[in-house]
Amino acid sequence: MATFQTLPGFREFYPEDLARRNHVFRLWRRTAGAFGFAEYDAPVLEPLELYKAKSGDEIENQLFNFTDKGGREVALRPEMTPTVCRLVGARASALKRPIKWFSIAEFYRYERMQKGRGRCFSQFNADIFGEAGPEAEIELIALLVQCLCGFGLTEQDFYVRLSDRNLWFYYLETLGLDEPRIRAVLGAVDRYEKHGDDAFKGYSEQFGPLASDLKGKILAFLQIKSLDALEQVLAASGGEKLAARLTDWRRLLDGLAAMGLASFIQVDLGVVRGLAYYTGFVFEAFDRKGELRALAGGGRYDDLVEKLGGPALPATGFAIGDMTFALLLEQRGLVPNLVQAADIYCVIGGAAERKAAFADIQALRAAGYRVDYPLKEVAFGKQFKAAAESGARIALIYGTDELAKGVVKLRDLTERSERDVPRDQVLAMVRDSISGQTG
Ligand code: HAM
Repeated sequence: MATFQTLPGFREFYPEDLARRNHVFRLWRRTAGAFGFAEYDAPVLEPLELYKAKSGDEIENQLFNFTDKGGREVALRPEMTPTVCRLVGARASALKRPIKWFSIAEFYRYERMQKGRGRCFSQFNADIFGEAGPEAEIELIALLVQCLCGFGLTEQDFYVRLSDRNLWFYYLETLGLDEPRIRAVLGAVDRYEKHGDDAFKGYSEQFGPLASDLKGKILAFLQIKSLDALEQVLAASGGEKLAARLTDWRRLLDGLAAMGLASFIQVDLGVVRGLAYYTGFVFEAFDRKGELRALAGGGRYDDLVEKLGGPALPATGFAIGDMTFALLLEQRGLVPNLVQAADIYCVIGGAAERKAAFADIQALRAAGYRVDYPLKEVAFGKQFKAAAESGARIALIYGTDELAKGVVKLRDLTERSERDVPRDQVLAMVRDSISGQTG
């Protein structure tokens, strides 16, 4: 007989796995709320055109796309950014600024599989529209840091590498490169950490070898790790544009420092991000040990809303992936035990007692208690074992003798005490017992 397996790179969530994922999503959602972000959602399947030439070659090559029965070219979403630009663009004039939105959703990329990378993964996306200054980046980076710290991670565990595609553009322009060459160099810089010199192959194939003094300058620029060093290199170039940009950098770093986040931030011009639409500050979060792929990535994309048919609207944002994040939490022993225990387990004598129990079970559940009971008649001994295993704090015992006396036995499984409770007071007594228990 044929056996069916999940497709490569797709995940299944058994209850304990889903409890862990829900826990992560719950905390992200709460954190986004604390920062004043509103939640939205959007379709999983989008017109292919939305990603063509907007997200960049890498993502385009990884699309899960097909022609639907109506002949439309469609793709499973590989990321949220083009979609959220469309949503915001369509209502831009009606939305109160700044527009601070977040979502938690699933994405699909036909990637080569490796640790922390799948073909189906979730992201927490947060974006701000309508704010052109670095105040938006301060807000977003603070949110990103808190989304990780909320789980007990610290600056010992992860950091955010901060860079600037805007400055890269200015700098490469001063070196005499035109836009196609600049884009090719940025592609090489993005790959340099992983591939070393091979990263420049694509550039050479397109434009011929990069002059060695030019390459030297580019390699020196990508190794810049502080604002001071950056200012020194750029001092020679001068110009108002550059001076204004350096002021933005100072505002951003000062703001983050005032929030107490300086120890999480590393200036690092080696980050340029692979996605084509970024225009300004870009950032990526990594584990400190450098063992895992990126935890999160983002940046400014001031042209994208307009390119997708909306008004000109500055925008910046980031996404945290759930896979690398889960690996990091596991490595640091920060995954809590999330067994969902019942509050109450009902131990039921026979068919007659079952009727009485059912009325109470329904009332207790309607009051919000987690109540469990054996679906079929089983021996008392087995039921008590099941009650203990369920993690319930209270067992309610519906025996023939009890019901004849008009009572139910309430056994407190934590305190190991028991008493008879009149049938019509079960809900009140349960409430009393549970609120009296700690934890
Ligand atoms: P990205 O860098 O492509 O950015 O993805 C962000 C994060 O999603 C990554 O750092 C990683 O944790 C996770 N991720 C990406 N691809 C995979 C994969 N194949 N398997 C597992 N995890 C993955 C974006 O997607 C941008 N749209 C983020 C953004 C929002 N920029 C502005 N706003």
